[in-house]
Amino acid sequence: MIVFKKLAHLQSFLEKKRLSGAKIGFVPTMGAMHQGHISLITASKANTNITVSSIFVNPTQFNDPKDFEKYPITIEKDIDMLELAGCDALLLPSIADMYPNGTKNLPHYDLGFVETVLDGKYRPGHFQGVCQVVHRLLDIVKPDVLFLGQKDYQQCMVIKKMIALTGLSTSINICPTLRETDGLAMSSRNMRLNTEERKKAVLIFQTLQFVKQQIKSGYLNDIKERAFNYLNAEGFKADYIEIANAENLHLQEFWDGKMPLVILAAAYLNEVRLIDNMLH
Ligand code: PAF
Repeated sequence: MIVFKKLAHLQSFLEKKRLSGAKIGFVPTMGAMHQGHISLITASKANTNITVSSIFVNPTQFNDPKDFEKYPITIEKDIDMLELAGCDALLLPSIADMYPNGTKNLPHYDLGFVETVLDGKYRPGHFQGVCQVVHRLLDIVKPDVLFLGQKDYQQCMVIKKMIALTGLSTSINICPTLRETDGLAMSSRNMRLNTEERKKAVLIFQTLQFVKQQIKSGYLNDIKERAFNYLNAEGFKADYIEIANAENLHLQEFWDGKMPLVILAAAYLNEVRLIDNMLH
């Protein structure tokens, strides 16, 4: 794997590959790699000819400065994992490379409803930050396919919208959530959980499973409320447990028995905010 610190060097490497007909896959990350990231590298390798990854902890997407400060950094281990997975190129940009004119006047994307609901409501500005950094990275790498994890369900929808708004030609490949053996969704934030919190964290997955089993056509509020109260009684501070139309994230209070649904949860365990989702 070639590690690039200069944008221009990566760009000329990719230009040569493109001219020889290679299809380019891209896996953007904020580091603190786990097997979920590696599954995206594997998917990219299976579907494209050159796999590029990036590690950049993007300050503009953290609405909580404490969360930014505490974001785990494990760069050497990340490089080893990417290398082992067969990633071809890694970009490690500096903040000045990413935001040459600073972060004050970055573009604003008209994302509409998808930005105001769920995480958009609890993390104001977060999805604008995600779009700013992903747009910039896509401009640099110009991949044919962008690989994203279903774990960040809303993020996938937001990025899809940003790509449609900006007219970029990259297609998106959404890969399934990878889980620990007990069911906890793999996430860089899991590294911040202590032993007791780690044991408890699986309750988010179990609650989603419970909701999924309980959903029947008809009213949904009772089941959502029970799940929300359960997590809080177990020591979480839940932001939400919601059932939404899987195609547009419109929240549902009633199910006709046909609409594809997604159940989504976000909850704090002490200082660590965890999210997960499950299709129904
Ligand atoms: O999902 C993430 O790790 C980040 O939001 C992303 C897509 C790399 C943008 O910083």
